[in-house]
Amino acid sequence: MRTRQHAINVSAVGFMLAILGGVACAKKDQAASDTAAAVAADTTPKSLYDRLGGKSAITAVIDTFVARVAADTRINKKFAKTNIPRVKAMLVDQVCAQTGGPCTYTGRTMKEAHKGMKVTEGEFNALVEDLTSALNTFSVPKKEQDELLAALGSMKGDIVEVKSAATGTALPASFKPAPALK
Ligand code: HEM
Repeated sequence: MRTRQHAINVSAVGFMLAILGGVACAKKDQAASDTAAAVAADTTPKSLYDRLGGKSAITAVIDTFVARVAADTRINKKFAKTNIPRVKAMLVDQVCAQTGGPCTYTGRTMKEAHKGMKVTEGEFNALVEDLTSALNTFSVPKKEQDELLAALGSMKGDIVEVKSAATGTALPASFKPAPALK
Protein backbone atom coordinates (compact mmCIF):
# COMPACT_ATOMS: atom_id res chain seq x y z
CA MET A 1 0.00 0.00 0.00
CA ARG A 2 2.84 2.36 1.00
CA THR A 3 4.63 1.47 -2.18
CA ARG A 4 1.50 2.14 -4.21
CA GLN A 5 0.96 5.53 -2.50
CA HIS A 6 4.60 6.32 -3.20
CA ALA A 7 4.16 5.38 -6.83
CA ILE A 8 1.10 7.64 -7.10
CA ASN A 9 3.01 10.55 -5.54
CA VAL A 10 5.95 10.03 -7.86
CA SER A 11 3.74 10.00 -10.93
CA ALA A 12 1.81 13.06 -9.68
CA VAL A 13 5.11 14.93 -9.29
CA GLY A 14 6.15 13.79 -12.75
CA PHE A 15 2.87 15.02 -14.15
CA MET A 16 3.28 18.46 -12.49
CA LEU A 17 6.82 18.73 -13.81
CA ALA A 18 5.63 17.85 -17.28
CA ILE A 19 2.99 20.63 -17.09
CA LEU A 20 5.47 23.14 -15.74
CA GLY A 21 7.95 22.10 -18.41
CA GLY A 22 5.24 22.60 -21.00
CA VAL A 23 4.41 26.07 -19.66
CA ALA A 24 8.09 27.04 -19.64
CA CYS A 25 8.44 25.81 -23.21
CA ALA A 26 5.37 27.71 -24.35
CA LYS A 27 6.74 30.87 -22.69
CA LYS A 28 10.07 30.37 -24.42
CA ASP A 29 8.34 29.83 -27.77
CA GLN A 30 6.27 33.00 -27.21
CA ALA A 31 9.40 35.01 -26.35
CA ALA A 32 11.14 33.67 -29.46
CA SER A 33 8.22 34.60 -31.68
CA ASP A 34 7.94 38.06 -30.02
CA THR A 35 11.62 38.64 -30.80
CA ALA A 36 11.14 37.42 -34.36
CA ALA A 37 8.18 39.81 -34.75
CA ALA A 38 10.26 42.70 -33.41
CA VAL A 39 13.09 41.91 -35.82
CA ALA A 40 10.60 41.70 -38.69
CA ALA A 41 9.03 45.02 -37.62
CA ASP A 42 12.46 46.68 -37.55
CA THR A 43 13.23 45.60 -41.08
CA THR A 44 9.78 46.49 -42.47
CA PRO A 45 10.30 49.47 -44.81
CA LYS A 46 8.84 52.70 -43.40
CA SER A 47 6.03 54.28 -45.37
CA LEU A 48 6.78 57.44 -47.37
CA TYR A 49 4.44 59.21 -44.91
CA ASP A 50 6.69 58.26 -41.97
CA ARG A 51 9.87 59.10 -43.87
CA LEU A 52 8.49 62.55 -44.70
CA GLY A 53 7.99 63.12 -40.95
CA GLY A 54 4.24 62.53 -40.59
CA LYS A 55 1.34 64.96 -40.68
CA SER A 56 3.01 67.99 -39.06
CA ALA A 57 5.94 67.87 -41.51
CA ILE A 58 3.55 67.44 -44.47
CA THR A 59 1.45 70.39 -43.24
CA ALA A 60 4.57 72.59 -43.01
CA VAL A 61 5.62 71.64 -46.57
CA ILE A 62 2.10 72.35 -47.94
CA ASP A 63 1.95 75.76 -46.18
CA THR A 64 5.25 76.77 -47.78
CA PHE A 65 4.21 75.27 -51.13
CA VAL A 66 0.90 77.21 -51.22
CA ALA A 67 2.75 80.45 -50.31
CA ARG A 68 5.14 79.81 -53.25
CA VAL A 69 2.20 79.15 -55.60
CA ALA A 70 0.42 82.33 -54.46
CA ALA A 71 3.54 84.38 -55.32
CA ASP A 72 4.19 82.60 -58.64
CA THR A 73 2.83 84.66 -61.54
CA ARG A 74 3.19 81.61 -63.84
CA ILE A 75 0.23 79.97 -62.06
CA ASN A 76 -1.41 82.19 -59.43
CA LYS A 77 -4.18 83.48 -61.74
CA LYS A 78 -5.73 80.01 -61.63
CA PHE A 79 -6.38 80.47 -57.88
CA ALA A 80 -8.31 83.76 -58.26
CA LYS A 81 -11.64 82.28 -57.06
CA THR A 82 -10.25 79.62 -54.75
CA ASN A 83 -10.87 79.15 -51.06
CA ILE A 84 -7.25 78.74 -49.91
CA PRO A 85 -7.87 77.09 -46.49
CA ARG A 86 -9.85 74.37 -48.27
CA VAL A 87 -7.12 73.71 -50.85
CA LYS A 88 -4.47 73.55 -48.13
CA ALA A 89 -6.49 71.08 -46.03
CA MET A 90 -7.27 68.96 -49.09
CA LEU A 91 -3.63 68.89 -50.20
CA VAL A 92 -2.47 67.78 -46.74
CA ASP A 93 -5.05 64.97 -46.64
CA GLN A 94 -4.27 63.94 -50.19
CA VAL A 95 -0.50 63.75 -49.64
CA CYS A 96 -1.01 62.03 -46.26
CA ALA A 97 -3.33 59.37 -47.73
CA GLN A 98 -1.29 58.95 -50.92
CA THR A 99 1.95 58.27 -48.99
CA GLY A 100 0.49 55.64 -46.64
CA GLY A 101 -0.55 57.89 -43.75
CA PRO A 102 -3.68 57.59 -41.57
CA CYS A 103 -5.79 60.17 -43.46
CA THR A 104 -8.77 59.98 -45.75
CA TYR A 105 -8.93 62.33 -48.73
CA THR A 106 -12.47 63.72 -48.91
CA GLY A 107 -11.99 66.22 -51.76
CA ARG A 108 -13.01 66.01 -55.37
CA THR A 109 -11.23 63.80 -57.88
CA MET A 110 -8.37 65.48 -59.74
CA LYS A 111 -10.48 65.50 -62.92
CA GLU A 112 -13.44 67.20 -61.20
CA ALA A 113 -11.29 69.69 -59.24
CA HIS A 114 -9.39 70.95 -62.31
CA LYS A 115 -12.16 70.64 -64.91
CA GLY A 116 -12.55 73.75 -67.07
CA MET A 117 -9.51 75.44 -65.50
CA LYS A 118 -7.51 75.10 -68.74
CA VAL A 119 -4.26 74.20 -66.97
CA THR A 120 -1.35 73.93 -69.44
CA GLU A 121 1.60 71.54 -69.30
CA GLY A 122 3.87 74.52 -68.63
CA GLU A 123 1.72 75.47 -65.62
CA PHE A 124 1.74 71.91 -64.33
CA ASN A 125 5.57 71.92 -64.48
CA ALA A 126 5.68 75.31 -62.73
CA LEU A 127 3.59 73.93 -59.86
CA VAL A 128 5.89 70.88 -59.57
CA GLU A 129 8.86 73.30 -59.37
CA ASP A 130 7.17 75.17 -56.52
CA LEU A 131 6.55 71.90 -54.68
CA THR A 132 10.18 70.83 -55.20
CA SER A 133 11.35 74.16 -53.86
CA ALA A 134 9.13 73.73 -50.74
CA LEU A 135 10.50 70.19 -50.23
CA ASN A 136 14.06 71.57 -50.50
CA THR A 137 13.28 74.23 -47.88
CA PHE A 138 12.59 71.40 -45.44
CA SER A 139 15.63 69.37 -46.62
CA VAL A 140 13.48 66.43 -47.73
CA PRO A 141 15.95 63.92 -49.26
CA LYS A 142 15.97 63.34 -53.02
CA LYS A 143 14.66 59.74 -52.70
CA GLU A 144 11.52 60.87 -50.82
CA GLN A 145 11.05 63.84 -53.18
CA ASP A 146 11.19 61.53 -56.21
CA GLU A 147 8.68 59.10 -54.67
CA LEU A 148 6.22 61.89 -53.85
CA LEU A 149 6.59 63.58 -57.23
CA ALA A 150 6.10 60.23 -59.01
CA ALA A 151 2.85 59.65 -57.07
CA LEU A 152 1.56 63.16 -57.85
CA GLY A 153 2.96 63.17 -61.40
CA SER A 154 0.72 60.23 -62.23
CA MET A 155 -2.24 62.61 -61.87
CA LYS A 156 -1.02 64.90 -64.66
CA GLY A 157 -3.36 63.42 -67.28
CA ASP A 158 -6.39 64.35 -65.13
CA ILE A 159 -5.20 67.92 -64.48
CA VAL A 160 -3.65 69.25 -67.71
CA GLU A 161 -6.26 70.26 -70.28
CA VAL A 162 -4.04 72.23 -72.69
CA LYS A 163 -0.95 70.74 -74.37
CA SER A 164 1.18 73.87 -74.33
CA ALA A 165 4.30 75.17 -72.59
CA ALA A 166 2.55 78.52 -71.95
CA THR A 167 2.30 79.77 -68.37
CA GLY A 168 0.34 82.59 -66.69
CA THR A 169 -2.83 81.82 -68.64
CA ALA A 170 -6.11 83.17 -67.25
CA LEU A 171 -8.70 81.21 -65.29
CA PRO A 172 -11.74 80.84 -67.59
CA ALA A 173 -14.66 82.99 -66.35
CA SER A 174 -16.91 79.93 -66.44
CA PHE A 175 -14.84 78.12 -63.77
CA LYS A 176 -16.87 77.31 -60.63
CA PRO A 177 -14.72 76.93 -57.47
CA ALA A 178 -15.41 74.39 -54.74
CA PRO A 179 -17.23 75.72 -51.64
CA ALA A 180 -15.31 76.57 -48.45
CA LEU A 181 -15.10 73.85 -45.82
CA LYS A 182 -17.77 73.98 -43.06
C1 HEM B 1 0.15 67.04 -59.19
C2 HEM B 1 -0.38 68.22 -59.29
C3 HEM B 1 -1.60 68.66 -58.54
C4 HEM B 1 -2.22 68.13 -57.45
C5 HEM B 1 -1.83 66.89 -56.67
C6 HEM B 1 -3.35 68.98 -57.14
C7 HEM B 1 -4.22 68.74 -56.09
C8 HEM B 1 -5.33 69.52 -55.83
C9 HEM B 1 -6.28 69.27 -54.77
C10 HEM B 1 -6.22 68.12 -53.78
C11 HEM B 1 -7.22 70.22 -54.84
C12 HEM B 1 -8.45 70.38 -53.91
C13 HEM B 1 -9.69 69.70 -54.47
C14 HEM B 1 -10.94 70.05 -53.69
O1 HEM B 1 -11.03 71.16 -53.15
O2 HEM B 1 -11.86 69.20 -53.62
C15 HEM B 1 -6.85 71.11 -55.92
C16 HEM B 1 -7.53 72.24 -56.27
C17 HEM B 1 -7.04 73.18 -57.12
N1 HEM B 1 -5.95 73.05 -57.93
FE1 HEM B 1 -4.71 71.51 -58.04
N2 HEM B 1 -3.41 70.00 -58.04
C18 HEM B 1 -2.35 69.85 -58.91
C19 HEM B 1 -2.03 70.67 -59.96
C20 HEM B 1 -2.58 71.89 -60.17
C21 HEM B 1 -2.13 72.86 -61.17
C22 HEM B 1 -0.98 72.61 -62.13
C23 HEM B 1 -2.90 73.95 -61.02
C24 HEM B 1 -2.87 75.23 -61.78
C25 HEM B 1 -1.80 75.78 -62.24
C26 HEM B 1 -3.85 73.67 -59.97
C27 HEM B 1 -4.82 74.54 -59.55
C28 HEM B 1 -5.80 74.24 -58.62
C29 HEM B 1 -6.82 75.17 -58.23
C30 HEM B 1 -7.01 76.59 -58.73
C31 HEM B 1 -7.61 74.50 -57.27
C32 HEM B 1 -8.84 75.04 -56.56
C33 HEM B 1 -10.08 74.81 -57.36
C34 HEM B 1 -11.30 75.40 -56.69
O3 HEM B 1 -11.22 76.56 -56.27
O4 HEM B 1 -12.30 74.73 -56.62
N3 HEM B 1 -3.63 72.42 -59.49
N4 HEM B 1 -5.71 70.65 -56.51
